[in-house]
Amino acid sequence: MKLMAGNSNLPLARAIAGYLEVPLTDASVRRFADEEIFVEIHENVRGEDLFILQSTSYPANDNLMELLIAIDACKRASAKRITAVIPYFGYARQDRKPGPRTPISAKLVANLITEAGADRVLSVDLHAGQIQGFFDIPTDNLYAAPTMAADIQARYDGDLMVVSPDVGGVVRARALAKRLDNAPLAIVDKRRERPGESEVMNIIGDVSGRNCILIDDIVDSGGTLCNAAQALLDAGAKSVAAYITHGVLSGGAVARVDKSALKELVITDSILPTDAAKDSTRIRILPIAPLIGEAVRRIADESSVSSLFD
Ligand code: R5P
Repeated sequence: MKLMAGNSNLPLARAIAGYLEVPLTDASVRRFADEEIFVEIHENVRGEDLFILQSTSYPANDNLMELLIAIDACKRASAKRITAVIPYFGYARQDRKPGPRTPISAKLVANLITEAGADRVLSVDLHAGQIQGFFDIPTDNLYAAPTMAADIQARYDGDLMVVSPDVGGVVRARALAKRLDNAPLAIVDKRRERPGESEVMNIIGDVSGRNCILIDDIVDSGGTLCNAAQALLDAGAKSVAAYITHGVLSGGAVARVDKSALKELVITDSILPTDAAKDSTRIRILPIAPLIGEAVRRIADESSVSSLFD
């Protein structure tokens, strides 16, 4: 097995390499004067089972291009099998046509990765499970829920309630609730009653006196989360914390979280945390390397990945 890292999240790549006790393959990614990307592998990878680690996070286009070029370099160097390990799969939110004459970019990106020469994909908490079907190659979707559940169980004694911040996230919230001894579930239902009127947040479920755990796949601007946290407190929740797999945290998101009603925002390091996120007293980062490292080991050994979640 060989592990190769793109530049999107080197600390995570090193942590996965540490877990597997496999050194990172000696490769370099350089830029030409016009910013074109050039990847060079400095050791033999012929016949190897090769895993390329790269999140397609900010800057999404550069990181995606780097991944595609790295796959091409490995394919042309005669690697036996190439697995694109994409802890955070960007463009995933564009998974359907929101209106006429719009793209389905998640499918386009899946096509690009496959066409570049990947034989398999490994990702974590894809925005929608059906994105696996956008790839015509085997795709494993890992879940951060067991890691989150262990953390929650170590910190809370009771009165837990798992909350989905929108109707689309109910399946994910139910899966976490099941791992927390079947904790009760609530849903934040956002709706605009009439055009031009501001959105109303309805809470489905009785959250009064509960320690609410909001769960979602992505925190980007933080708007969804911070508004949901306020609505839950207004509805009588005892406390509100959030567990989110991918800390995209664009623009002023960290400042928004710092000023919010959230007791804590817990993210994984699927995306390299910014200095602002690391410095925030409200944000905590859960390491995801053991989960990804174990899945990589099982793929290399041809053993079951799904049994990680039994
Ligand atoms: C949306 O469907 C996702 O699951 C997240 O809820 C969304 O991307 C969060 O975005 P923001 O933090 O900008 O509200």
